[in-house]
Amino acid sequence: MDDDEPINRDKDPDAWADAVAADVPLVTQMDDGAVGGGLFPSSAASMPSLVRFMLDQLDVEPDHDVLEIGTGTGWSTALLATALTDDRVTSIEVDAHVAAHAQESLFAGDFEPTLIIGDGLRGHKEGAPYDRLIATMAVQRVPYEWVEQVKPGGVIVTPWGTAFHNSGLLRMVVGEDGTASGRFVGSVNFMWARSQRRRFDTREFVGDVIPDPGTARVRHTTTDPRPMRDEHAEFAIGLCLPEVEQRVYFGRGDAAGEYTQWLSDGESWASVDYKPGADRFEVNESGPRDLWADVETAFEGWRNRGEPPREQHGVTVTRDGQWTWFDGPNDRVNVGPAPAT
Ligand SMILES: C[S@@+](CC[C@H](N)C(=O)[O-])C[C@H]1O[C@@H](n2cnc3c(N)ncnc32)[C@H](O)[C@@H]1O
Repeated sequence: MDDDEPINRDKDPDAWADAVAADVPLVTQMDDGAVGGGLFPSSAASMPSLVRFMLDQLDVEPDHDVLEIGTGTGWSTALLATALTDDRVTSIEVDAHVAAHAQESLFAGDFEPTLIIGDGLRGHKEGAPYDRLIATMAVQRVPYEWVEQVKPGGVIVTPWGTAFHNSGLLRMVVGEDGTASGRFVGSVNFMWARSQRRRFDTREFVGDVIPDPGTARVRHTTTDPRPMRDEHAEFAIGLCLPEVEQRVYFGRGDAAGEYTQWLSDGESWASVDYKPGADRFEVNESGPRDLWADVETAFEGWRNRGEPPREQHGVTVTRDGQWTWFDGPNDRVNVGPAPAT
């Protein structure tokens, strides 16, 4: 099975069956369905072992009412319907074409969930309150509507990331006081909620995001940038610099082993070039902020805290916004803006 080649079910049913049976994520739509695209995945059937892990974290009982955000193929909706009495799952999909396809598959399998076409970041208050809420796309900001629509004691499971690094599975419990709080429980990498995508995700070239590379200030650093690419380091750096996007380009051929890391906050940008064997690395920067210095400072902070893993961090969501924390809700890493959904 070639990872990048589309599989046509009618022309190659064996390859299709193999792909469906494999424990891999399967992209089912590119570029929001735009014809001739091929830039970014916009819908998928999630990796089965990961869905299992997420459903374990959700901890559903047969008599629960569950809200799912991101119907996709409808596969995880069917799993939930199977686990619940009377198919008590409501699933929201933002893409009408994807939703219609899921509906067809689910009804063909005799499942009867409530299917909604719309922006799942708003939840579905007509069906609230829910015992459980699960999202199958990543958010940078947890909408307060989700917290409002889940019963006290209820659980919210969602992929969560920052523009810098997208790898957290967040499990929060809703409190009697109308807030929700919880830790990261593992590593997942989901596509973003459509309105929370980063600029780098939907642009083909760095030049589409970084303006005027010729205007950069050039300096050199003797700090090896590679340790900053550790996944837990990147996760923690992202908590400190949630608005800084990054994209990494790896060299090929003669340049194998080299990479360039690009950073942008929308106004300032920076890049750092890693070359094997070098003892100083070129840094290019433009704009009012020294973004590479900010990354180095955040990395030092993570090291000084003893290099805590992702799972030592968490998020609290209130009506006024969300904040991320280290060890416990009172040890704030970053006070985020009010969730703009
Ligand atoms: C990884 S796929 C979902 C996989 C799905 N659970 C399955 O088992 O096939 C993520 C889905 O979330 C949808 N999505 C993205 N943003 C959304 C939003 N704001 N509201 C609802 N659905 C959204 C995408 O269109 C995509 O179909």
